Amino acid sequence: MTSGTDAQDAQPLRNRPELLVLANLPAWDMEPLLEEFHAHRLSDAPDLDALLARCGAVRALAAPGHHGADAALMDALPALEIIANYGVGVDAIDLEAARARGIRVTNTPDVLTDDVADLAIALALSVMREIPRGDAHVRGGGWATGNMPLARRFHGCKLGIVGLGRIGAAIAKRAHAFDCAIGYFNRSPQPTSPYRAFATIRELAEWSDMLVVTVAGGAGTRALIDTAVLQALGPRGFLVNVSRGTTVDETALLDALESRAIAGAALDVFLNEPHIDERFKALPNAVLLPHHGSATVETRRAMGQLMRDNLSAHFSGKPLLTPVV
Ligand code: 8YV
Repeated sequence: MTSGTDAQDAQPLRNRPELLVLANLPAWDMEPLLEEFHAHRLSDAPDLDALLARCGAVRALAAPGHHGADAALMDALPALEIIANYGVGVDAIDLEAARARGIRVTNTPDVLTDDVADLAIALALSVMREIPRGDAHVRGGGWATGNMPLARRFHGCKLGIVGLGRIGAAIAKRAHAFDCAIGYFNRSPQPTSPYRAFATIRELAEWSDMLVVTVAGGAGTRALIDTAVLQALGPRGFLVNVSRGTTVDETALLDALESRAIAGAALDVFLNEPHIDERFKALPNAVLLPHHGSATVETRRAMGQLMRDNLSAHFSGKPLLTPVV
């Protein structure tokens, strides 16, 4: 790595574009960003307002998927030209406001697809085979005094995918190797898909043993998984969510898990992360993860690289690699 002094000698701080970093980025991203940009970070200021007060010349924003950027944040950054999202989901960015202000938006698709799909399968196996419960059974000494109850089989089950996009297709590919029958619901038809299409999520849920949600977040997919869908999934059905907490009516889900209206759920995403509804923590039939779909060293390195490549392309007048707006 070039030292800060060398970098400054190569390009004085005042000549570098100003960048606001709202993501908690690893050193492998921060170090190259500090060489290319005059970066402002939350850790440099007592709070966001104090930070924004010195960001009048900021031309670029690096934001984590869940933080995003609303119109008020864009208004507070009058020189903003580009928002580089550290994640594929741009539901937390006001894209209309960005368009209206001529601000470009990029994201990090593809590089995280396989990790999110791996995690969806891991969650499906975890909740059906009750892996966390088995781990607790061994650690807690329960094994010496009795067997753990029998679990449910994953391979060969009917797997319904809500949203057959990049991540949904990668999950289907994996589920195929587990001999699962695969059905899906997708807003736009997928005529070349080899899987069984369903006209409604409710019908898909009725058919499925395991329903996996992979649709993008945002207003258009809010509470797609509601009481009716959960009832259709039924007391032998399981739910996996690797999309956004907003896609599920959480109160309906909590009620369904508590009353055993569905068998179980494995969730990587929630409303109000990381301050999730306390009711989840008491559920023996739920597996809970801290939004870790893309959280491997390999994928986070690739996401950071793509985010930085988009920023570099913008400031060197080249086409953006993965533009959203
Ligand atoms: C990340 C994500 O955890 O890509 C997304 O949309 O939600 C995740 O990959 C997040 O963006 C990192 O802040």
